[in-house]
Parts: sequence; C-alpha cells; structure tokens
Amino acid sequence: FDTTNREKFRPVYHFSPLYGWMNDPNGMVYKDGEYHLFYQHNPYGSKWGNMNWGHAISKDLINWEHRPDAITPDAFGTIFSGSAVVDHNNTAGFGAGAIIAIYTQNGDRQVQSIAYSTDNGRTFTKYADNPVLVSEARDFRDPKVFWYEGTKRWIMVLAVGQEMQIFSSPNLKNWIFESSFGKGQGAHGNVWECPDLFELPVEGTNEKKWVLLCSLGDGPFGDSATQYFVGTFNGKEFVNESPSKTKWMDWGKDHYATVTWSDAPDNRRIAIAWMSNWQYANDVPTSQYRSPNSVPRDLSLFTVDGETYLQSAPSPELLKLRDVSKKRSFKVNGTRTIKDMIAGNEGAYEIELTIENQHADIIGFRLYNDKGEEVDMQYDMKEKKFSMDRRKSGDVGFNENFPMLTWTAIESGKDELKLRLFVDKSSVEAFGDGGRFVMTNQVFPSEPYTHIDFYSKGGAYKVDSFVIYKLKK
Ligand code: FRU
Repeated sequence: FDTTNREKFRPVYHFSPLYGWMNDPNGMVYKDGEYHLFYQHNPYGSKWGNMNWGHAISKDLINWEHRPDAITPDAFGTIFSGSAVVDHNNTAGFGAGAIIAIYTQNGDRQVQSIAYSTDNGRTFTKYADNPVLVSEARDFRDPKVFWYEGTKRWIMVLAVGQEMQIFSSPNLKNWIFESSFGKGQGAHGNVWECPDLFELPVEGTNEKKWVLLCSLGDGPFGDSATQYFVGTFNGKEFVNESPSKTKWMDWGKDHYATVTWSDAPDNRRIAIAWMSNWQYANDVPTSQYRSPNSVPRDLSLFTVDGETYLQSAPSPELLKLRDVSKKRSFKVNGTRTIKDMIAGNEGAYEIELTIENQHADIIGFRLYNDKGEEVDMQYDMKEKKFSMDRRKSGDVGFNENFPMLTWTAIESGKDELKLRLFVDKSSVEAFGDGGRFVMTNQVFPSEPYTHIDFYSKGGAYKVDSFVIYKLKK
C-alpha cells in the first residue's frame, strides 16, 4: 500500500496506523528498552473487520516504528483484543524472556489463545495446542494477564458478558477459574470489555490499592467509556472498596479500551486508550486510516474525602515534543482575544494554563479558526464543573451522536486552576490539576484552531500564565 500521508486529520504526535482501521490497543509490553504496542487492525480497509494484531515499537512512547501485523487470523478465528507478558522464569517452556501474547479468537465462539516470540516481538509463533481457554459464554474475551508474586501464578482477567472473571495458571496454558466480579458494581447497560488489573501506591500514604479498569458501551455521554474500581486483590478475588460509586477515567467521548503496559520501567503504570467511540468510529471523516490512540498517561491514585481516585497525567515523554513557545499573562474581564496564538501553527500544540479566579462565575476560553469553527471550554465556578463543547468544532454532521458538550465535576473550593491541553489536528485532550480530571474529544476542523478568546462572566479572573508550545517530533 502507498502509505504517504494524505490525511489532513492525521495526528502528529499521537499513534495512528499507517493504513486501515484501528481500535483497541493490545498486548502492550516493555522489554529491553522497547515499548511494544499491538492493536486491533483491519489491514484491508478503514472500517472494522478482519481483525489482526497490528504492531509498532517505540523507545520513547512518541516515535513509533511501524511493523508488519504480528498475529493474523487462523482456523480458530480473527484476532481480538488481549495482552502480552514477558515470561522471565520460562513458566511456559518457550524460553526465559519470551514475550507471550494472550488473545481472544473470534470464530464460532470466543476462545483464548497464546503465541510466543523469542526475538523481542519481531515474529510470533502460535502455540500448537491452542486454544488454551474456552467456554459456552457468548462474550468471553480480552484477556489481561499478569504475574502475581503472592501465589506465584499468572492471573488472567477476562470480560465475560457484564462481569469480569478471574483465572489463574502456573504456565499460561492451563487455566482455572477463581472468581467473578461485577454484579451490582459500577455501570452496566452493555457488555464489559478490555479489563486491566494492577496495584498502585496511594499518593501521600504508604498504602497500595488495586485498580480494575473496565470499558463498556454505557458511558456518561453515550456508548464507549472506561470506568474503574479501586479495592483489594489477593490472587483470587478482587473486592471493590466503594461498590456504590461509578468512577470514570476520562470525561470525554473518545477514550475507550484503556489498558496499561506490562513491565514498564521505574514502576510506572502507563495507559493508552483508543481515541474514538463505537457510536461513530466507522464514520469519522478520515479514509486512509481510522482512529488514533490517546497520548500515553502515567497513572497514580489520590484520595479526596476518603474516596480514592485515579489520576491520569500526561506521560513525561510528551515534554520532549515541546518546540518554540510563547508565554503571556493577563487579566480577563469581559473578552480577551488572542489572534494567532503562535506563528506557523499547524494544529499540533500544547497549551499550559494557570488561572487565578477572582470573582468570575464562568472562566471560559474558545479555540477557533477563521472559518468560525470552535471548541469552547468553561470552568463553571458556581456549579463546580469543567466542560468542553465541540458542537461547532468543524465537521460534526457525519453522525448524530458526534456533536456534544461533555462535562465533569471539579474539586470544590479551588481558586487556582491548572490545565494542560493537547491539541493534535483532530483531537483535544484536557488534563486538569495534573490529571485529576481528563477529557478527551475528537474534532474535525477544516483548518487548525489558531486563535483563542478568553472570556469571563460574573466577574474577573487572572491568567497567571498562558503558554503555548508548538509540538513536533
Ligand atoms: C472493544 C472490543 C473488544 C474486542 C475488540 C474487537 O472495543 O469490542 O471487546 O476484543 O473490540 O475488535
């Protein structure tokens, strides 16, 4: 295929497939200085179908080397989502240090298979006795596997209908059922997909807690979104510490199938999401490829009023993208227009904002272009909300579910607001308070948003610092 970039919407610093359709990130594993990213790939077209595991390798989570598809369909079915591990102790007998992929095959039914690589992910060999786990259940997929030192077993979390099932194995080949999780917990309303389960320290304490990620088609703004649960895990069972709460990882419309890297260095827990929504993923106005990933995010836990939440901070590697910048500070009482935020803006930039509220009820800012297309963001200081409105962002007519204002509650009593916005041709990701809230939305403007208007209602505010960085690889 000719993969010369012909897409004006193709992001500069987000991962996108060279050609064809992409959905979930899969099999993310770090080994010997390389981050592997596999993904749900249709190599033959830009709509969902013919699923393979696409593959790319990066040393810095930003620059990706595109590789041929790593795992391709066979008699058991097409290759659905899953994970990968490094078998340091040669438990499976494919060699110490083999990368082993564990994935769903979608054929007559959904079964789990494995494949191994002894050349750092360059080639994979399917296990001769696949599949390794079968069931009568119709929706039985997306295995996330990790090593649990406490029982010296591999643990698999699997999405089964509207619950997660936990299995264990000494060798990745023989699996036994341990427990299931889900009844009466969090959001339902559609099948659960793409689990992840890991332990994280709680900021400001010596404590650690387990986090279970769960994607489902019943999010706060319609269809695809990622919820999470915080609790304990003992090698057999996950227990949610606050069963009456639903917690969302991201408050935009385009953040799905979020999973993390195995074996990431320095105890980091790095997540990436598919940046689209099943409501309209097949209709977005690109054609050479369809749908990128989110930027990588480093996860941590923080507690407010006794409740523990996930924080998703932009990964520090993103700082390396910063090119020329321009810094301003000013007061806003009414409207403050900044035409051409930075020279030569081609639509890939970061905005870093520190705002001090004085008496404003609304702290607003609008990114826009000369065509009048805009993304309007507001802190509502009375209602304690942050919102992003893409209803006039450009091409919004390809699907009735695309135009949307998304919003989230913000922590109360704050007068200093910190926000980082990542704009990359066809997306806006907002990280508030270091990632205590996140909002990810696609946009399809006919030309980049090069201007910004700050506005206030009900009183004034001070922009202590507005910095725009051009971002480039
Ligand atoms: C989630 C999902 C997974 C499945 C894959 C198929 O987006 O539906 O559950 O494995 O996509 O492409």
